[in-house]
Amino acid sequence: MAELRKIVAAAAFFASYVAAAPVKRNQISFLQKTGEDAAIFKLGDISYLANTAYPTVTAGLTGQRDFAGVGATLPITVISTNVSTVSNQTLEIILESYASSDDVYTTDFLESVYIASTAGTASIDASALSYLTGIDVKHTLVPAGTRMASSYGQSTATIASGNLTALLPGPYLAIFTAGSVSFAPVYRLYEDTYRDFLYGAYSSGDGTASFTPLDRSLPSFGYPAIPVPSRLYYLNDPRPFAGFRVAIKDLYDMKGLVTTGGSQAWAYISKPANSTAPSIQRILELGGILVGKFKLAQFASGANPWDWQDEHYPFNPRGDGWLTCSASSSGGGCSIAAYEWLDFAIGSDTGSSMRRTAAVSGTFGNRPSQGMITLEGVIPLGGATDTAGVFSRDPYKWSYFAKHWYAPSLHQSSNLTGLSALTVPDTDGFPKTILYPTDYLPLNNSAAEPILDALIANMSSLFGMTVKRFNFTATVESATDPAVANITALNNGPIGIIDSYTQWEVIAKPLITAWAKLFDGRFPPIDSARREGWQTYNETANSLSAYNNALMQKNAAVQWYETHLQYSTAESCSESVMLYDIGTGGLPSYREEDLNNSPNASFLAEKPPGAAITGASICPSYGCADFTVPIGQVPYYSQVTFHTEMVPVTINMVVKRGCDFVLFNMIEKLADAGVLKTVKTGKTAF
Ligand SMILES: *[C@@H]1O[C@H](CO)[C@@H](O)[C@H](O)[C@H]1NC(C)=O
Ligand SMILES: *[C@@H]1O[C@H](CO)[C@@H](O)[C@H](O)[C@H]1NC(C)=O
Ligand SMILES: *[C@@H]1O[C@H](CO)[C@@H](O)[C@H](O)[C@H]1NC(C)=O
Ligand SMILES: *[C@@H]1O[C@H](CO)[C@@H](O)[C@H](O)[C@H]1NC(C)=O
Ligand SMILES: *[C@@H]1O[C@H](CO)[C@@H](O)[C@H](O)[C@H]1NC(C)=O
Ligand SMILES: *[C@@H]1O[C@H](CO)[C@@H](O)[C@H](O)[C@H]1NC(C)=O
Ligand SMILES: *[C@@H]1O[C@H](CO)[C@@H](O)[C@H](O)[C@H]1NC(C)=O
Ligand SMILES: *[C@@H]1O[C@H](CO)[C@@H](O)[C@H](O)[C@H]1NC(C)=O
Ligand SMILES: *[C@@H]1O[C@H](CO)[C@@H](O)[C@H](O)[C@H]1NC(C)=O
Ligand SMILES: *[C@@H]1O[C@H](CO)[C@@H](O)[C@H](O)[C@H]1NC(C)=O
Ligand SMILES: *[C@@H]1O[C@H](CO)[C@@H](O)[C@H](O)[C@H]1NC(C)=O
Repeated sequence: MAELRKIVAAAAFFASYVAAAPVKRNQISFLQKTGEDAAIFKLGDISYLANTAYPTVTAGLTGQRDFAGVGATLPITVISTNVSTVSNQTLEIILESYASSDDVYTTDFLESVYIASTAGTASIDASALSYLTGIDVKHTLVPAGTRMASSYGQSTATIASGNLTALLPGPYLAIFTAGSVSFAPVYRLYEDTYRDFLYGAYSSGDGTASFTPLDRSLPSFGYPAIPVPSRLYYLNDPRPFAGFRVAIKDLYDMKGLVTTGGSQAWAYISKPANSTAPSIQRILELGGILVGKFKLAQFASGANPWDWQDEHYPFNPRGDGWLTCSASSSGGGCSIAAYEWLDFAIGSDTGSSMRRTAAVSGTFGNRPSQGMITLEGVIPLGGATDTAGVFSRDPYKWSYFAKHWYAPSLHQSSNLTGLSALTVPDTDGFPKTILYPTDYLPLNNSAAEPILDALIANMSSLFGMTVKRFNFTATVESATDPAVANITALNNGPIGIIDSYTQWEVIAKPLITAWAKLFDGRFPPIDSARREGWQTYNETANSLSAYNNALMQKNAAVQWYETHLQYSTAESCSESVMLYDIGTGGLPSYREEDLNNSPNASFLAEKPPGAAITGASICPSYGCADFTVPIGQVPYYSQVTFHTEMVPVTINMVVKRGCDFVLFNMIEKLADAGVLKTVKTGKTAF
C-alpha cells in the first residue's frame, strides 16, 4: 500500500515535472493582528496563528542568490534530516512523513523551505534541487557551509547566524528583512464548535513561561478558536508527553491567565496568575502543550445545565447533541468526546465531576486516590475532597498519562488530606473479587445491563475473579462505630464541612468582601448553585476546629472502609474492585430540564432507592480511587431529534485508596483482551 502510494506520487510528480504544470498551492491571506501582536492568517480553508511577537529564532541571512524574499512574510517548512547528502528521495520521504503525522503542516507551507542536516556540512544534490523546483518551492534556505549543486535557478539564501538548534522541524511563518529572517511558530486554529472551551491560549514565547489568551472567535456563534501547535516541533523531543495537547479546567492557574472559576465576578477581582499550578507545570515539564481553558460549573459546583448563567453551557457531541455534559468538569469530557485534535483534558473531582462527566460523554475519566497530586494554584472546593483527574479516549494513553503525571513528589501532605501518607504501587496485584452492590446495580436501563454482564464475565474469566453481590448501604450501616455506621450523618456533617470550608475561606469570603467594598455593600452576581450557601454560610458552625474534627471523622471512616470493605492482601493491592454506575445507567439525560421528565430519560445524580448516598459520594468519603470506563452504547428515542440515537454506557471501577496504578494495569489488560476499546469522537463512542 505504502509502495503503491509512492509509485502513484512519483508518477504524479514525474507527470507534473514533464508537463511543467504549476503546483497548486493556497496563497497566504492575512486576516488580522491580535492585540498581542500575533498574526492570524489563512492558507486555503485553514486558519492559523503565528506568534510573530516572539519568533522561535531570528537568524542572520547572507549569500543570497536571486533572493526574492526580502521584505516578505512567507509560509516556510523547516526540514530536518541527518543525512549528509540530501537527495530528492530524502526530501520526498520526509515531506510525506510530515504530512501524514501532523494536522498543522500542509504542503501550503512549501512556499519556502529551510533544509538543515544534523550531519554537519551537508550537500544538497541536483535531484533534490530539481525536486524542489518540481514542487514549486520559491525560496530555499540552508545553513552556512552547505554545498548546493550549482544548476539551481531558484531563489536561495544562507543562514549565517542564530541559534539554529532551537529551530525544530515543521511549519513556520518566516518574516524576511534585508539581513535576517525570523521564524514565528504557527498554530492551527480549530473552531470549538461545541463551545466546550472558555478560550484558547498559547505559550507566550517571551521567556517568562507564561501563556497568552487568544481573544478570537468566529462571528456567527462565537466559537472560540483554539490554537494547536504543529506536532512536528516535538518529533525529536524525548520527553514522555512531547506534543500532547491538553485542555485545562479553568480552576487551575496558568501563568499569565486569569483563573475565572467560571465566574465573571471572580474574574473581575482577580489578576492574571503569576505562576502555573504545580500539577499543570508537571505536564509542561513532561513536554505537554496547554491549548486553552475549558468550561466548568461555576466554582466547581454541581449546577445543572439549566442553572448556568455566567457561561453558556457546553455541548456534548454524543447522541442527539442535546445531552448533558454533567457539571463541573463538563467542558473537559465533552471536548475529549468531540475533538480528534485534542489528546487529554485535566479536570477535578470533588463530588463527582471527573467521573460523571466521563460517564455522560463516553470517555475515560478518573478520580484518583485522595492526596494523589497537589492542588496548589487551583481554586479549591473541599481541600480534603478535591482531586485532579484526566480525560482520555484511549485506555492505554489514559493509563500512560496518569502514571507519568502522578509523581510521588507531588502527593499532598497528610495534614492536608487528614489521611495516612499515600503509597501507590505499580504492580499486577489485581483484585480477586468483583463487588456488585445490589443497592446501586443493575443499570437503570435494562437494555444496558447485558453490556455490564459481559464485562463481568470477561473480568471473571481473564483474572479469575469471583463476583460478590452485597448491599453497600447495609454493610456500612453494620459498622460498630456509630459515627461510621451513620453514613448519612457522615455525608451531611463532616464531608459537608470539608466540601465548603476551603472554598469559603479562599474564594467566597474574599469575593463577597471585595465586591461589597467595590459596589456599596452588594453581593456578587453568581450562579444560583452557590448563592444561597454562601449567603447563609455559618462561620461559627464551620469553624477551623469543626473542620479539623471533620478530617478526623473522615479518617476514621476511611480506616473502617480499608479494614472491612476494600482492603489489601498479600496478593492484591485492593482485594476487590467494586462496580457501580455514576451516570444514568444507559438512559439519556438532557441539557434541557423538562425533557428529563420524559419516561425513558433520567436526571443525573439520582440516589437509588434504598441507598443512603449516591454512588458518586463513596470515594469522596472513603478516599478510594474511582474510574469511569466506557463499555458500550444503547439506543434511545430522542425527544429532540425524534429519531433513534445512541447513548454511551459506562461503568465505574472502585479500588482501595492507593491502588490506582494497579487498576490502570488491570484496565490495560482488559484493553489487551479487546474488552475495553478506544472511543471515537462524535455522535457515537463506538
Ligand atoms: C538517521 O535517522 C534515521 C531515521 O530516524 C535513523 O534510522 C538513522 O539511524 C539515523 N542515522 C544517523 C547517522 O544518525
Ligand atoms: C530522484 O531523481 C532521480 C534522478 O536523479 C530519478 O531517477 C528518481 O526517479 C527521482 N526519485 C523521486 C522519488 O523523485
Ligand atoms: C539554543 O536553543 C536551544 C534549544 O532551544 C537552547 O537549549 C540553547 O540554550 C540555546 N542556546 C543559546 C545560546 O541561546
Ligand atoms: C503571586 O500571586 C500570589 C497570589 O495571588 C501572591 O500571594 C504572591 O505574592 C504573588 N507572587 C509574586 C512573586 O508576585
Ligand atoms: C499543615 O502543616 C503545616 C506545616 O506544618 C501547617 O502550617 C498547617 O497549618 C497545617 N495544616 C493543617 C490543615 O493542619
Ligand atoms: C467477553 O464476553 C463476551 C460475551 O460473553 C464474549 O463474547 C467474549 O469472548 C469475551 N471476551 C473475552 C476476552 O473473554
Ligand atoms: C444519623 O444521623 C442523623 C443526623 O445526621 C440522625 O438524624 C439520624 O437519626 C441518625 N441515624 C441513626 C440510625 O442513628
Ligand atoms: C451558626 O452555627 C452556630 C453553631 O452551630 C449556631 O449556634 C447558630 O445558631 C448558627 N447561626 C445561624 C444564623 O444559623
Ligand atoms: C420507553 O422504553 C420502553 C422500552 O424500550 C418502550 O417500550 C416504551 O415505549 C418507551 N416509552 C416511551 C414513552 O418512549
Ligand atoms: C432510573 O430511571 C428513571 C426513569 O426511567 C428515573 O426516574 C430514576 O431516577 C432513575 N434512577 C436512577 C438511580 O438513576
Ligand atoms: C440495602 O440496604 C438498605 C439498608 O439496610 C435497604 O434500605 C435497602 O433496601 C437495601 N437494598 C437492597 C437492594 O437490598
